[in-house]
Amino acid sequence: MPLFKIINITPTTQILIWKVTESFDELVEKVVLKEKTQLRLNGMKSEMHQRAFLSVRMLIQEIGINDFDLHYDEFGKPYLNDHQHISITHSHNFAAIIVSEETVGIDMEMQREKIIRIADKFVNEKELKRLQSFDSLDYIKKLTVKWGAKEAIFKIRNEKGISFKDHIQVKPFEIGEKETTAILEFENLKQPFTIFFEEIENFTLVYAFEK
Ligand SMILES: CC(C)(COP(=O)(O)OP(=O)(O)OC[C@H]1O[C@@H](n2cnc3c(N)ncnc32)[C@H](O)[C@@H]1OP(=O)(O)O)[C@@H](O)C(=O)NCCC(=O)NCCS
Repeated sequence: MPLFKIINITPTTQILIWKVTESFDELVEKVVLKEKTQLRLNGMKSEMHQRAFLSVRMLIQEIGINDFDLHYDEFGKPYLNDHQHISITHSHNFAAIIVSEETVGIDMEMQREKIIRIADKFVNEKELKRLQSFDSLDYIKKLTVKWGAKEAIFKIRNEKGISFKDHIQVKPFEIGEKETTAILEFENLKQPFTIFFEEIENFTLVYAFEK
């Protein structure tokens, strides 16, 4: 499938999602890659990862740029040649980018029961208490939003030492609300973020903006 969905958030912020159904050969034929990217691609062990990585290049081509315009800082955070911000995510057969004039972070995660077992690694006790639910599907979905929100905030801040559990708190929300806020408290900083989320098949897409 080519482009799966475009979400126009504001006139200057856009999300593009790719559902990866093409083979590696089909994708590689359609993208231009600089040498550095080709070397990264060659080094990837999983073909699914390679196909998702190539799909990100398909997505940036959709917005009229290509791999030569996409760069990474020393921590792996992507940036563009122009003044626009970009954040990237890929999970199994989905890849997504958010491009904006604002600083933004995006994350897409598959909703999986396994997240219950690792919840105490990324949510603090206060958050966990408020999340307790008799509906286990709702619980999985909420945990996935929390995880995605923290990943998206981490992608904005891109700082060593940020602990999902100790430094980022996501305010209580209901799945139907599709929006919440989160606070990053790290070193001397206390920064609020607006979080948006939505379900795409059995995945959760989360994106964050600085408030
Ligand atoms: C780097 C990290 C944010 C990637 O997130 P992920 O959910 O594993 O993977 P995603 O597919 O959503 O995102 C990967 C993309 O994030 C981007 N990325 C990588 N490092 C980044 C950074 N430091 N800052 C911003 N974006 C980054 C890249 O674009 C990457 O894709 P690409 O290299 O193919 O272009 C994540 O692995 C990480 O290090 N998180 C923080 C550490 C942590 O606290 N983890 C869990 C604690 S319980």
